[in-house]
Amino acid sequence: MEKKFAPLKNDRLLRAARGEKVDRPPMWVMRQAGRYLPEYHEAKGKHDFFECCRSPEIASTLTLQPIDRYEGLIDAAIIFSDILVIPQAMGMDVKMVDGVGPKFPDPLRSPSDKQYQEIVKKQVDVAKELDYVYKGITMTRNKLAGRVPLYGFCGAPWTLLCYMVEGGGTKLFKEAKTWVYKYSVESKVLLRKISEICVEHLALQVAAGAQIIQVFDSWAGELSPSSFKEFALPSLKYISENLPKRLREMGEDVVPMVVFAKGAWYALDELCDSGYDVVGLDWLHDPAEAVRIARGRVTLQGNADPGVLYGEHAAITSVVENMVRGFGGGQERWIVNLGHGITPGVNPDNLKFFFEEVHRCSGAKKAE
Ligand code: CP3
Repeated sequence: MEKKFAPLKNDRLLRAARGEKVDRPPMWVMRQAGRYLPEYHEAKGKHDFFECCRSPEIASTLTLQPIDRYEGLIDAAIIFSDILVIPQAMGMDVKMVDGVGPKFPDPLRSPSDKQYQEIVKKQVDVAKELDYVYKGITMTRNKLAGRVPLYGFCGAPWTLLCYMVEGGGTKLFKEAKTWVYKYSVESKVLLRKISEICVEHLALQVAAGAQIIQVFDSWAGELSPSSFKEFALPSLKYISENLPKRLREMGEDVVPMVVFAKGAWYALDELCDSGYDVVGLDWLHDPAEAVRIARGRVTLQGNADPGVLYGEHAAITSVVENMVRGFGGGQERWIVNLGHGITPGVNPDNLKFFFEEVHRCSGAKKAE
């Protein structure tokens, strides 16, 4: 589809995602728009979290905050939204409780519940339910005016199933494990249903202006290698196979796809063959080892411990030097990021220092 957006002035990140040469490794961080920024609290004001997600104006303002603050250092924006908008679109109530996190007053309890039957049968009108996300993306693309590309995203089906059955965050994963080990057939039906909605949601984000997409499997590491293969990987592959098809059907260009399966270090080799252009790494990976396993099949994204940003500059320098060395001095297919989202309470100047140190340490490559 013909897009009326300003031409992209900084395509470093999209080039790196596609494996093309870049002058320096592109950088962004997960959760870059968020609570560590004083301007986030100011713009959010008294609005509820999901109210901010639902307002294209507020969501685009929050998305742009790190881009303005780290101008010249940061190479991508990510739309301010949440992975839990998909369960909401499926008809579930989700609240964000201050200091607690997401809460589902009425989680899925068992496959014999009426709610489960309804959810797996229901045809969700994704375009209608999540229209506010697409409006937010289009508004953000206009405000970005080509400064950096914009990520769209969704939660991976396994992670979303966890939230839908647990009703919020958890340490034990009692409900999620009960589902996959007791009701494995019904779990797979639900995972497929979520996967279909993920594809549609990502496709509509691209149609609205997202230039690259990321799938967050934040709870992948709760599964064993064999259960990851059974309950998480098939949905990730379903998305990477079907999103390009759906985009072509819609007359849209195919965009680079990123998969971030946190904790699934054992699956790196398979993730490199799972149809994604980029594989995100958490900080449990040794970069050099990950580069060896990837063998240039994908671009790697990551992976400094977000906790280092609580440390002194010397600690940040040391982590950056180690990371850059591991990624071949910045010569490998690499997008710089933290190994998970930036956390509340971090001094924003420490993130600036992190970016500057990567800049200083990573050798400039000749653009082709
Ligand atoms: O800047 C960005 O990265 C874009 C926005 C973004 C948010 N959530 C905003 C947000 C993205 C990409 C997400 C994804 C998301 N949401 C994930 C996957 C990434 C990950 O961290 O693994 C998950 C698991 C969620 C679900 C969720 N939403 C949780 C667990 C929480 C934290 C609750 C807490 O109190 O710690 C949220 C809330 C949330 N999402 C905030 C932000 C800025 C904080 C809201 C606030 O209190 O102001």
